[in-house]
Amino acid sequence: MCGIVGYIGGKPAFPILLKGLKRLEYRGYDSAGVALLESTNLEVLKKKGKVSELEKLTETKTYSSTIGIGHTRWATHGEPSDKNAHPHYSSDQKLAIIHNGIIENYGALKTELSEKGYEFRSDTDTEVFITFIEDIKKTLDLTLEDAVRIALTKVVGAYAIVIMSTEEPDKLIAARKGSPMVIGLGKNEYYIASDASPIVEYTNEVIYMEDEQIAIITRNDLTIVDTKDVPQKAEIHKLDLKLESIEKGGYEHFMLKEIFEQPRSIADCMRGRLNATEGLLTLGGIRNYSEALTNAEKIVIVACGTSWHAGLVAEYIFEDLCRIPVEVEYASEFRYRNPVIREGDILIAISQSGETADTLAAIELAKSKGAIIFGVVNTVGSSISRITHEGAYLHAGPEIGVASTKAFTAQLTILAMIALRIASKKGTISESKYRELLVDLENIPAKVETALKSDDKVKEISSLFKDARNFLYLGRGYNFPVALEGALKLKEISYIHAEGYPAAEMKHGPIALIDENMPVVFIATRDSSYDKIVSNIQEVKSRKGKVIAIVTEGDVLIPKMADHTIEVPATHEALMPLVSVIPLQLLSYHIAVMRGANVDQPRNLAKSVTVE
Ligand code: G6P
Repeated sequence: MCGIVGYIGGKPAFPILLKGLKRLEYRGYDSAGVALLESTNLEVLKKKGKVSELEKLTETKTYSSTIGIGHTRWATHGEPSDKNAHPHYSSDQKLAIIHNGIIENYGALKTELSEKGYEFRSDTDTEVFITFIEDIKKTLDLTLEDAVRIALTKVVGAYAIVIMSTEEPDKLIAARKGSPMVIGLGKNEYYIASDASPIVEYTNEVIYMEDEQIAIITRNDLTIVDTKDVPQKAEIHKLDLKLESIEKGGYEHFMLKEIFEQPRSIADCMRGRLNATEGLLTLGGIRNYSEALTNAEKIVIVACGTSWHAGLVAEYIFEDLCRIPVEVEYASEFRYRNPVIREGDILIAISQSGETADTLAAIELAKSKGAIIFGVVNTVGSSISRITHEGAYLHAGPEIGVASTKAFTAQLTILAMIALRIASKKGTISESKYRELLVDLENIPAKVETALKSDDKVKEISSLFKDARNFLYLGRGYNFPVALEGALKLKEISYIHAEGYPAAEMKHGPIALIDENMPVVFIATRDSSYDKIVSNIQEVKSRKGKVIAIVTEGDVLIPKMADHTIEVPATHEALMPLVSVIPLQLLSYHIAVMRGANVDQPRNLAKSVTVE
């Protein structure tokens, strides 16, 4: 959460920072700000609200500074306001800082600093942090980098910070622990950002900073040390990110673009890995621990949000095809509940961003107890991808809309491939079923393409239900996690209360909510629970609920009962979530647009949740 960007070089910094902040806005949009060095003064410009508010504030001005830092905020300490917006200054206004993360011992530090006479203008932990650095610098008469280094040994919490100083005007100091940071290397210039999106149009050479590393950056030099001042080696990576992939490409919203990208993103995820004709399934990232995975007595899956829903689908697939017991855990619960993990246990962590704080902590906990960790991650080079033993990237391309869509289907694709590989090795499915499923998987992009053709119909249905106050989503078997995901999508972006439930559980509570005003979305494709879900639809209809049913093409029974039906192509039930989720993504999208909600930047949410 929070996006940070920094620049030092020969070009005017302000336009680079502003553009960078727009690219990072998915990480938080409570306020935005920049700090520049105009002649010898720190100019800090900041504003509550989106980056466009900051842009309005500065539109008649020009800035010549060739060094600067910028921040887009997701509020933790202190409400969204101008005064709590970053950058923050030191009390003498000589230092400015941007910070992503939380300083947990800021209360004690604030008391200590207040007793020394320092005063604070904001409610943030970040202002305390920079004042603490200022105090160390003055008391011990240190350079900026030494003061920062010593301060970092005394703060508790997570941070990605960039600091600049009027006294050392040709230098930026950057450091990270628990929050992501990438440095882009140009010619006599450096770019710093939370991810590569603000950097990609200037350079494709980057360094991913590691925890507890500090970078001292001048126009001509980059030195990295650790908190004990020991020089660190930095590996230069080539970015494999295309500029088009982080732009809207003619779509009104990133979310819509990402929904429609799915035939391609799923195909990209399978490319070079799956060849149904030859019966081949290769996952290059799962090699050394492949035997351990195949012979696992149990698999634990940890994730958050939509990724957790992908984990639930995986539970059905792994148990069904591989006969391995699976536990799916919210990472935030797992990490604090003293789970039983033994040496050699298998844990799969699923994360789009690869930076989710709770998932990272869950991995660290399991790893410390000797578990083997596999990652299913989208963002290349992210923290999770680097701390897992092995794994598979989604290759879905950057996902920018806050509500996850194409990452979810790519996660399902990877998890299905892993399950099929295990099942084939273990012999828990026959060779013919294995081959059949490979073909079905290979055909999924075309089926998703067909499912997307329901867009106009879904839009029509959306207009009828856009003012509903509640929604119920029901599914059984493989489609139960899809019901949860459909409800989450609607909540996230349209702010309509929605609940996902296993259809049969409806009788134990939610049925009491059903009346003529309650839209109930059934995910009722033809599978082994079809007859059962037909009965559930009847139970809702006899209580006058309004039924919207997602059905398999050619279904003649459910359309007679439901108020509205949306058809999707048939596939094996284990793969159906890849297809049945598509109309639900579209439904939430259109309802949110019709309600005037900001689809790509829903209130209070952020794409990358780097606080616990
Ligand atoms: C946030 C995002 C969700 C995402 C969840 C987990 O809540 O808004 O879309 O599913 O975090 O994120 P991850 O990056 O770990 O998949």
